[in-house]
Amino acid sequence: GMAGAAGLAAVGAAGATFSLLTGGDSGKAAAAEATGTLTIPDLLEGTASGGTTTYTLTAKSGTNEVISGVTSTTAGYNGSYLGPTMKWTKGDTVLMDFTNTLGAETTVHFHGAHIPPAMDGGPQNAFADGVTWSPTFEVLDEAKTLWYHPHALGTTAEQVVHGLAGMIIVADDSDASAALPSEYGVDDIPIILQCLAVDTAGDIKYEATGYRASGVGFPVLVNGTNVDSTTLGFTATRKRTRFRVLNASPADIMTVQRGDGGTLTQIATDQGYLTEPTEVTTIRLVAGARAEFVLDLEDAVTLQAVVTTGWIRGGSGTYDFLTVTPDATDSPADLPSTLNTITRYDTSAFTARTITLGQGTGGTMTINGSVGTTMAGMAMISTTLDAEEVWTIKNGTQLEHSFHLHDVPYQVVEINGETPTGVDLGWRDTFEVVGGGSIKIAMKFTDFTDDTYMYMLHCHLLQHEDEGMMAALMVTDG
Ligand code: C2O
Ligand code: CU
Repeated sequence: GMAGAAGLAAVGAAGATFSLLTGGDSGKAAAAEATGTLTIPDLLEGTASGGTTTYTLTAKSGTNEVISGVTSTTAGYNGSYLGPTMKWTKGDTVLMDFTNTLGAETTVHFHGAHIPPAMDGGPQNAFADGVTWSPTFEVLDEAKTLWYHPHALGTTAEQVVHGLAGMIIVADDSDASAALPSEYGVDDIPIILQCLAVDTAGDIKYEATGYRASGVGFPVLVNGTNVDSTTLGFTATRKRTRFRVLNASPADIMTVQRGDGGTLTQIATDQGYLTEPTEVTTIRLVAGARAEFVLDLEDAVTLQAVVTTGWIRGGSGTYDFLTVTPDATDSPADLPSTLNTITRYDTSAFTARTITLGQGTGGTMTINGSVGTTMAGMAMISTTLDAEEVWTIKNGTQLEHSFHLHDVPYQVVEINGETPTGVDLGWRDTFEVVGGGSIKIAMKFTDFTDDTYMYMLHCHLLQHEDEGMMAALMVTDG
């Protein structure tokens, strides 16, 4: 439930619209019923055959009570809102049959995955209503939390806020993975946070301009359930419980903390394990980011989600979203003192580039001066296989942005002129760039080249992406 509100900020102008088909499923799985219990998205079982695991997903429309008593048109994968969790294992070959029944074109992007550009689900992979898209690739990623969502030009915000998003857990055989909780829904718990805007007719919006005055609700959802006036419950049957948190909001920064001010033991950032379990009091997640933490439970712990920026809901706010109550008698072993080895890049010989985030005319957004609302109009970054690069991401606006790069994990090597510390030393694929600020990130382009299909780099404030704050990255053989 809601615990406080303050502040106000703005996030650009209105973007593109399209209509989802009405009709279809209603209220299945992650529907926003205030049952008081945490809804856990289904785990999608794959079918293994001939060395390939196949997952079958259908993007469809439906309805959901995003705000209690108001029926909203929504969309989901295999259900009316959000999608099931997929669990991939490093080294496996996976194949996905994605069928589009939305009545509009879509794509499915595997956010954070290191996969070939033709399988990445960017705008060039758009497929029409009635079509099945079947990407296949080997899972090269280490253990981490990824997610999947649409990425077609101009419609990403619209499709994601209607519910098209799901989590991907990558498992591996590392010592850290063996030592950490991993039983899905039992001691390994997905938390998908969203802060939306919904008008009085139930239409879900991804920007609040023009709606704040007219009785619009700004629900905060946890796995699809509105927590504005409810604190959900989860009974932990293991003392040590792992949480994977995804900020799937269209814009707002969400911060997770304990209601009692205690610490969370953070174990992972976007792109996998930290070097060691790290005690933190807050986990600040920019749009698109993920983090993992564990709780060693003696007594009940209430988790709070803080809408830090208040772009969508017109003010920040603190929500008690989940009370975790232990009902366990086990005694977990100590956490491993080392989870991962992260060798920090020495960037002195890296190729340097500057990526400037800007605003154009007529409500457009830019990267390096180009409005990326079409593939042809985008700035194009061209690099070669195994190139090592260091990019300065310069925020030429006073708005805040979430910088996301496809294909390879990056290390943040500078934040507004300062050297990063603590959890900012973990591997990332999304990072906050404050208004007028800058970050430096370093990465190495490994394994995949393509002269036709491109990776994307963009702001993960979805409206900004749709308004053109997106560029293309081509990795060639050189
Ligand atoms: Cu989560 Cu290019 O996207
Ligand atoms: Cu932005």
